[in-house]
Amino acid sequence: MASYIGTPTSRVDGRAKVTGSAQYAGEFGAPDLVYASVVTSTISRGRIAHIDASRALALDGVLDVLTHENRPKMANTDAGYSDEVAPEGGSPFRPLYDDKIKFNGQPIALVLAKDSETARFAATLVHIDYDEEKHATDLHARLDKAYVVEKPDKPRGNAAKAFAASAVRHDGEYFTPIEHHNPMELFATTVVRGGDGKLTVFDKTQGVQNVHRYVCGVFGLKPDDVRVMSPYVGGAFGSGLRPQYQVVLAMQGALQLKRSVRLVLTRDQMYGLGYRPATIHRVALGAQKDGTLEAITQEAIAMTSQYEEFSRNDTSWSALLYKSATAKYEHKLARLDVPTPSDMRAPGAATGVYALECAMDELAVALKLDPLELRLRSYSNRDQNNDNPYTSKELKECYRQGAEAFGWSKRNPAPRSMRDGTELVGWGMATGIWEALQVPTATRIVLTANGHAEVSCATSDIGTGTYTVMAQVAADMLGLPIDNVTVKLGDSSLPQSHVEGGSWTAASVAHAIAATADQIRGELLGLAQKMPGSPLAGLKPDEVVLSDGMIAAKKAASRSVSLADVMRHGGVDRVEREKLVEFAEDTKHARNTHSAIFVEVKVDEQLGIVRVTRVVDAVAAGRIINTKTAASQIMGSVVWGIGMALHEETLIDHKFGRVMNANIAEYHVPVHADVHDIKVIFVEEPDSTVNPLGIKGVGEIGIVGVAAAVANAIYHATGKRVRDLPITLNKIIG
Ligand code: MOS
Repeated sequence: MASYIGTPTSRVDGRAKVTGSAQYAGEFGAPDLVYASVVTSTISRGRIAHIDASRALALDGVLDVLTHENRPKMANTDAGYSDEVAPEGGSPFRPLYDDKIKFNGQPIALVLAKDSETARFAATLVHIDYDEEKHATDLHARLDKAYVVEKPDKPRGNAAKAFAASAVRHDGEYFTPIEHHNPMELFATTVVRGGDGKLTVFDKTQGVQNVHRYVCGVFGLKPDDVRVMSPYVGGAFGSGLRPQYQVVLAMQGALQLKRSVRLVLTRDQMYGLGYRPATIHRVALGAQKDGTLEAITQEAIAMTSQYEEFSRNDTSWSALLYKSATAKYEHKLARLDVPTPSDMRAPGAATGVYALECAMDELAVALKLDPLELRLRSYSNRDQNNDNPYTSKELKECYRQGAEAFGWSKRNPAPRSMRDGTELVGWGMATGIWEALQVPTATRIVLTANGHAEVSCATSDIGTGTYTVMAQVAADMLGLPIDNVTVKLGDSSLPQSHVEGGSWTAASVAHAIAATADQIRGELLGLAQKMPGSPLAGLKPDEVVLSDGMIAAKKAASRSVSLADVMRHGGVDRVEREKLVEFAEDTKHARNTHSAIFVEVKVDEQLGIVRVTRVVDAVAAGRIINTKTAASQIMGSVVWGIGMALHEETLIDHKFGRVMNANIAEYHVPVHADVHDIKVIFVEEPDSTVNPLGIKGVGEIGIVGVAAAVANAIYHATGKRVRDLPITLNKIIG
């Protein structure tokens, strides 16, 4: 009876977004709002010797300047800074806590003024004297100090020995630079102080309840005195998973002045937050002459801050993708005087699978084997790390459908063999993989007698389409037209939710809605069965359905009553239920999404300019709730993969430890002219094991492997193998 799930439903919040009625964190107002501006450090390591704010304070309209010396009281234990997304190792950053400087761009003072121009100007008048210490920000200069942080997965057999004995070998080093998320919306917080002194915190975040716990912990506030809201998020991609420093600063201002305060970071200040860490990967692959893999070794060295240990699974994806008798993985970290890295769309996989998939392409060249054929010969039906089967894995079908849509069979394997005028044409491919996760989530449904439902959850919609998929699922489960469903989210006072991330939200919230709707149906059935001569007498809850504003017997639709009648007879005008779903741990299966990406590039032979002219991305991600928003997710990810391959790179001037291109003019991202034909295919993947509705999530799978497919296509076009990203034209013609 599903009528919205699985269809290309337009965003229910689309009109609000394009007409500007959707409000973002920095847009909420309050009477007598105070505007804040941040002063950031210009050194990378040391301490603040002296702060002179007198010139700023003397400026007309400046209300106060907060520093570590006069800020409101804050927690002095790490536990006070509790954050569900914090790395396991280390101690979280505390904004304006003491005189220590841990990275360039660290917030060190907050100017509070009557308008934003005054605040920003006054911030330039705050004078800081530092005691500077020697800093290190260059990963390549710190490799000798890198240490092993985790054994991602146990080794299988003796990979070194098997590699040495392999008939065909490839051993290569790959580099991925620092990347920043660069969401359109700047990080912002508006703290609105009510007449009762309670605070409503409008914050740009992927997790309102995470921020709520955090600010209550940092400032020792009672949960009931703070409410965190984030109804709309203008892109985040992981940057909003952890509470960012502007929420602490805005809270400090509001507590100090007992007034409402707004703080919007500037674009360059956004480069003082988390980022995708630079990584160096060494991948060694050994195979028999027929392509049978004998040995896989992947070693990663990534960067972290001096105060937290951030690491993700960069190295062990091959065990899920490719059958190999032996394997070894290693993950190392080097500490640098930088802010802690953070999750950024498909953390670990975007970088680690890039290296793996380029290495597989190089091995295929060495084997004189088609790169797709190599992947088929080493296809793995089990997660070899845990020796588990998959809940479902339609990767083979992704390869087949993707190759067919792309025309892969017409590829001439020789590099530089295909041409279009002055451009060399290259075709490359790669595999993508991500996790299918789900987290405890609660929803509330209020169904009223007029046939309208409100469904609510504290989760976020970071642009991924959560409002819409929640409305679709609720409409189907309650048997209502989608226009009769209102969705509320992004409010810490709503039912429990984790941060929105990890591609887990669609599956989690859909099951919470289904479970809550079950309870609503049960209650309605109870009321209906109390009606004299009830046509539903004797039926159990799973023998009835909600459909077209009626409650009806599954097997005999004519045995039905309208919801309005049920509620009228029951003497109620609404039925309200809240339900938390938790997902049973399943250690017997691997749960993953997969993709096959095929890319065509055209490279100007003289100038080295690369155009990605065609991409086909075939994705297997279980049941797709909304084929329109999901395709948009994949397309956006592919665009980001193009950026990763060709454009994106945060550059630090290591002499100063400062980001040189802290703006989106010099930090290059793909623009319209860089994006051509992108085709998204969703491969059928029925799966009743991963969860009852068979949903896996698509937020992250779309980026994994794309950069490798582009790099592999560039090799095919030019005969030149560039292993360090981004592949700028100097590396092609140099
Ligand atoms: Mo995603 S990096 O979990 O927002």
